[in-house]
Formats: sequence, structure tokens, C-alpha cells
Amino acid sequence: MARLKTAVLISGRGSNLQALIAACTPDFPAEIVLAIANRADAAGLAHAARAKIPHRVIPHRDFASREAFDAALDAALGAAGVELVCLAGFMRLLTDGFVARWRDRLVNIHPSLLPAFPGLDTHARALAAGVRITGCTVHFVRAAVDDGPIIVQAAVPVLPGDDAERLAARILAAEHRAYPLALRLIAEGRVRVVGRRVEITGADPPSQYIWQPA
Ligand code: GRF
Repeated sequence: MARLKTAVLISGRGSNLQALIAACTPDFPAEIVLAIANRADAAGLAHAARAKIPHRVIPHRDFASREAFDAALDAALGAAGVELVCLAGFMRLLTDGFVARWRDRLVNIHPSLLPAFPGLDTHARALAAGVRITGCTVHFVRAAVDDGPIIVQAAVPVLPGDDAERLAARILAAEHRAYPLALRLIAEGRVRVVGRRVEITGADPPSQYIWQPA
């Protein structure tokens, strides 16, 4: 079985990187061939090191422009034969050129049910809005921030007494299931972008990836 060669781009903790690494057992249809951080202090690279996955830092500060940084990213991805790029807490805006070049081969995870609450301070804004249900979204990346065809979403309740930290932790647990599921669906060739939407062939019942309180 040819496994989908996948890269994961991070900026910090890397718990989603770790979840993807853990999912990619030999019988999984994707493999992580490269992890890249744009910051030398990204703690998450340790997950790749432990799993003996090639990893490197490409510090954005070393480049004079966004275009130059993205060209370095692109070169590293190309050299590793990467077929799919997963953004996982990658805190750099990518240029339109990079996004176009990787169109439908570039995915992101965001801790809300998009199109609600794109951008930063997601959890605090969800709490302030008083929503009862929030969650996470894995989507193909388009030029606008946190926009693009949705692949997988998981719903997470907002519970009494939640603050941003508690809510974030509950959503993160759902992220760690949603991202591997999305990667599996893509790697199995079951995901097709049709206009602004994604069609999935032979999808599992959605109840399998909606987070349920214990
Ligand atoms: C996650 O909440 C992800 O949805 C958001 O940034 C956070 C990254 O966390 N884009 P981690 O680095 O994967 O632990």
C-alpha cells in the first residue's frame, strides 16, 4: 500500500502533530514524512524527534519576505516528496501563491465550528457569544484565514463554569480525533472538493466523530 506522504507544520506545542503521528501506524494510509516548525522553540518538534520523523526548523525571521519564507517551505516539502500538508497550530499566514500551489493538498485545523469564530481568541469569543455547542473543523485552506471546504467537524458542548482554558482542553481532545479522521479520509482517496463543499464517499456515520460527553 502506497501511503500518502504527509508533512505537518507547527509553531508551538504540537499536540495535533503528536495525534497524527500516533495515528500513522504502518497500516494507516498516510505517513508523516516531515515536520516543520517556523520557530526554533516549538516544543512540538520533540514529538517528531521521538518518533524518528525527519523534522526541521525554518525560522521565518531568517527571510526578508513572506514569499521567500514560503519558497523555502515549498522547497523543503518538494525535497521530501510531500503530497499533503497539514497545518497544526502553524501561526504564520501563507502567501496566496503558496496556497494556490498546494490547493486541495493543504489542510488546517481550527478550534471552532467554522464558519463561526475564525481567527484568534476563538474560545473566548465563543464563550462571549454564549454558544452552547462549539467544536473543531478540519478544512482545505483557501486564501482567506480559516476559510475553505470543510472535511470533518466535531461538536463539543460548552459546559457551565467553562473558561477559555477548560473549553480549549475539551475541544483539543476532539481535535486529536478529528484530524486523524480527516487524514484517513483524504489518504483513502474518499475526499473530493466540489465547489465550496467536500464530498466524502462511503463516510462512516457522523456519530463516530461527534464528541460525546462521558
Ligand atoms: C489547536 O487548537 C489548533 O486547532 C489551533 O492551534 C492549536 C494548536 O495546538 N490551530 P497544538 O500545537 O496542536 O497542541
